[in-house]
Amino acid sequence: MPIEKENASKLRAIFDNAIDGIITIDDRGKLESINPAAAKMFGYNNEDVYGQNINMLMPEPYHSKHDRYMKNYHDTGEKKIIGIGREVLGKRKDGTTFPFFLSVSEIQLEDRKIFAGIIHDITELKKAEEHIREYALKLEHSNSELQDFAYISSHDLQEPLRKIQAFGDRLMQKESANLSGEGVDHLQRILNAASRMQNLINDLLRLSRLTSKLEPFIEIDLNEILAHVKEDIEVLIEKNQAEIIAEELPKIKADPTQIRQLFQNLISNSIKFSHPDKKPLIKITSSIFEEENYQGEKEIYVRILFEDNGIGFDEKYLEKIFTVFQKLHGQKYEGSGIGLAICKKIVSRHNGNIEAKSVLNNGATFIVTLPANPLN
Ligand SMILES: Nc1ncnc2c1ncn2[C@@H]1O[C@H](COP(=O)(O)OP(=O)(O)OP(=O)(O)O)[C@@H](O)[C@H]1O
Ligand SMILES: [Mg+2]
Repeated sequence: MPIEKENASKLRAIFDNAIDGIITIDDRGKLESINPAAAKMFGYNNEDVYGQNINMLMPEPYHSKHDRYMKNYHDTGEKKIIGIGREVLGKRKDGTTFPFFLSVSEIQLEDRKIFAGIIHDITELKKAEEHIREYALKLEHSNSELQDFAYISSHDLQEPLRKIQAFGDRLMQKESANLSGEGVDHLQRILNAASRMQNLINDLLRLSRLTSKLEPFIEIDLNEILAHVKEDIEVLIEKNQAEIIAEELPKIKADPTQIRQLFQNLISNSIKFSHPDKKPLIKITSSIFEEENYQGEKEIYVRILFEDNGIGFDEKYLEKIFTVFQKLHGQKYEGSGIGLAICKKIVSRHNGNIEAKSVLNNGATFIVTLPANPLN
């Protein structure tokens, strides 16, 4: 077979067998060729459409605008889709529509110009996108319901608890003489449990307020934040003869109250979980780096390390320590196990990240990464 003939039949076969639709029109918008894939997508036989205006395959308002658009292109050369491609809607013979990606190229033949459109059906893709959007909405909804639930339930639990405490106290004060020794002991246990429950409820309320009472992000100097925290926990520092060595820290955009809370939780943990034979030493260092965020944009991050010489923990419990009410070192240490859950929530509100490294009995390091300029 001569080469030209073979080439022509090869092109013909590609046209006929392509999965995507291929349509050509003349410079007035009259349809000249349509491959089987395109005919099938639009629900026509090839013969039905030859010589017809291409706008028959478009729903309104594109249907009415197309002639004007082609004229405008001839007059001004202004391109809207040619050479670029975009998502559009097609109209089938039965009137229904479907989304497709259309790329249009302009082809100069010897004596005239034609346009070729390649049509890639994206119905399935759109359906999947829609599913994801619906799913994300549902998640957001159930997330905010959960937050409301945590807030409302802990708030409402306070009232009956106050009654237990108030009447328990009264019983202890006025009636303990009428109770046996065992009775007094039981009553005392009830009161202790009620006060532990009060602490837990307060902690839960603090945790849920983190997302309900939001302050906007402003530029803050982390050195100043640290200085304030040191003042706030001055007594704790002195009592434990703790030493805090901090490098010069950068400025970032953040919620000052929350970052203060973050620093305070981490530093007081380091002091609380200090080694019985060592004076607590906390080193705070930082670094700045650039990385792509989850949207693929370059972003400047600040990483702050809080390194202590305390009792540490087994890294296999790493996930656990950031969970609400999870403590590794038992009742010996005060606290309800909410501090790190708060830290995690604060950091994620800032689109950052918190991790930890440790060896049991050999200190712990908490690593906080925050974008320097997060979106509020
Ligand atoms: N610097 C640290 N060194 C060793 N273990 C730590 C350190 N920080 C936290 N942990 C472990 O992680 C657990 C969870 O910490 P978290 O701050 O959430 O709770 P907590 O300090 O026990 O109580 P709360 O913060 O509510 O007062 C702690 O109970 C402790 O076992
Ligand atoms: Mg803590």
